[in-house]
Amino acid sequence: MEDASTETIDFSSLPKEKFRGDDYLWQWKGFWFRQPFLQAAQDVLNHYKPLPTDTVLASYPKTGTTWLKALLYSIINRSSRNSILTNHPHMLVPTLEMQLYGPKTGSFDSFAGTANSSARILATHLPYQVFSGTINSTDCRVVYITRNPKDTLVSSWHFYPKSKEVKDPWSLEDAVEKFSKGIANCGPYYDHVLGYWKESLERPNKVFFITYEELKSETKIHVKRLAEFLGCPFDDGDGKEEDAVLDDIVSNCSFEKLSNYEANKSDDGHVGWLKFPLSAFFRQGGMGDHKNYLTTEMIEHIDKITEEKFHASGFLYGI
Ligand code: A3P
Repeated sequence: MEDASTETIDFSSLPKEKFRGDDYLWQWKGFWFRQPFLQAAQDVLNHYKPLPTDTVLASYPKTGTTWLKALLYSIINRSSRNSILTNHPHMLVPTLEMQLYGPKTGSFDSFAGTANSSARILATHLPYQVFSGTINSTDCRVVYITRNPKDTLVSSWHFYPKSKEVKDPWSLEDAVEKFSKGIANCGPYYDHVLGYWKESLERPNKVFFITYEELKSETKIHVKRLAEFLGCPFDDGDGKEEDAVLDDIVSNCSFEKLSNYEANKSDDGHVGWLKFPLSAFFRQGGMGDHKNYLTTEMIEHIDKITEEKFHASGFLYGI
């Protein structure tokens, strides 16, 4: 078997599918990827050596990554937590395959979240099945967030047409069909989630698994748990000051506040190859929005897949 560190991808040998507009995906190791994403991912797999002190935020797209970037940055860099008031979370915490490797936009030193080599925070959309060799090569911590599949799908459906590159309209029917077949960058969603979920059961002290819904419903409780997991707990004693800091972080990262900072409302800058405006990462930030868009048939269709994939695996989530 070829060593992962020297592996290169022969795209002509990979299955290829149309995603939307002129956007194509290639299947590699059971997952679908855009070509530039996969090339950058290869670069990540070849060159990123996690430090034991690294925190890697992993997620399937549209499940709350931006929010958790803001929270993790604030928890770990508590004294400079106000940085999130003036910097987009993606500009504080870089995504490995989009900002640090491949056609990168910056170096580790150029992002506040990775500049401190003893407490770097990095994000990735790479599935565990692809990334496990890298993250298991050291003792780094992984935080994974997932979200209700129907809300994730509806969020994606709104998101992709905001690209400055591929502006084509996208029918909801097509979005549902592609999601159901797992055809999306880093899809299938279900395999992505299950990969990290299973690993979190195996290594709970190294892989923290949380749902968007848990975080949304009881943000303070889970931010506290996260801080403990990350080795920088909020003082429990009579630590009123620490509790005030905790409240401050939860409040400053809330959808209402985060989506309204000038840096996050901007349409000038962009992230990723499809050039998403920085404002595109904030829409309505709630739970159950799929009910406003999906038909009963669509909901039943997705729920059936959720049952087959999640529930049959013992992960009772998503319906
Ligand atoms: P909606 O499209 O449902 O509003 P990601 O960051 O992984 O791309 O996910 C984007 C989704 O997270 C969007 O969902 C976005 O509005 C929501 N989001 C962004 N910031 C949030 C926050 N502070 N709290 C809750 N949800 C947030």
